[in-house]
Amino acid sequence: MRVIKSWRTMQREALQWRREAVRIGFVPTMGYLHDGHMSLVRRARKLVGSAGKVVVSIYVNPTQFGPTEDLARYPRDLARDNKLCRAEGVDLVFLPNDQEMYPGKSEGRFSTFVVEENLSQGMEGAARPTHFRGVTTVVAKLFNIVQADVAVFGQKDFQQAAVVRQMVSDLNFPTRIVVAPTTREADGLALSSRNKYLSPAERQQAVALWQTIQLARKTVSRTSVPAVNLKRTLAQFLATFPLANPDYVEIFDPATLQPVRVARRGDHLALAVRFGKTRLIDNGRL
Ligand code: PAF
Repeated sequence: MRVIKSWRTMQREALQWRREAVRIGFVPTMGYLHDGHMSLVRRARKLVGSAGKVVVSIYVNPTQFGPTEDLARYPRDLARDNKLCRAEGVDLVFLPNDQEMYPGKSEGRFSTFVVEENLSQGMEGAARPTHFRGVTTVVAKLFNIVQADVAVFGQKDFQQAAVVRQMVSDLNFPTRIVVAPTTREADGLALSSRNKYLSPAERQQAVALWQTIQLARKTVSRTSVPAVNLKRTLAQFLATFPLANPDYVEIFDPATLQPVRVARRGDHLALAVRFGKTRLIDNGRL
């Protein structure tokens, strides 16, 4: 497995692969890898086959963090990440630093950003106003550098996947976007690098997100329900977890991400809940 830190070397390698008609599967990550990421890697391998190349990028992208968010303390363990990637048969890890990705940014010499203006507005976009601008910018840059045929994103970041798909369509990127299912702990908690922040008591109660999705599913399984009523029921349920501090619970059309007035099967639910300083998100089809 190769590790490349320079964007130019990475791009040169990728362009050479393309000339040789080698398919490139790409999994962009911020590191601190877990089995959820590894399931994306396995999906990428399936998509490009044994003759293809699987590239994982590891980069904690500062532009997608707000000024009061957890950029500085975001967990990092490069040695472990490399080991996991090697064990999973990753061909190449792209490991740039800030100077590679945003040269001259602190002196104002980096000034081009990619902004999606519709799907990025609600939920995570409303709670984290500059987040998606950072995501679309770094993903566009990574796509230009890695030249992937296919990129695999996790369904846990449902809105992110929708925003990236829209960007790819609007800006004519040749990369196909595949969204792979969320990997969960036995009790339903979605795997996330941020789970590491949870105290034992918070970890126990973090199952609230999954149980909220399950409750919503059960509620609409036989009948449609006004969304305000369902949201009230879910808020009451979340209130039974004293350490859970909900940021939002939204029920929406999965194609448009617009909130629905009446919740029914096939709609989508997404929620963000804080446990102390840790903010977790999850989502599921109803
Ligand atoms: O989902 C993530 O880990 C990040 O948002 C991504 C896509 C790697 C961009 O920094």
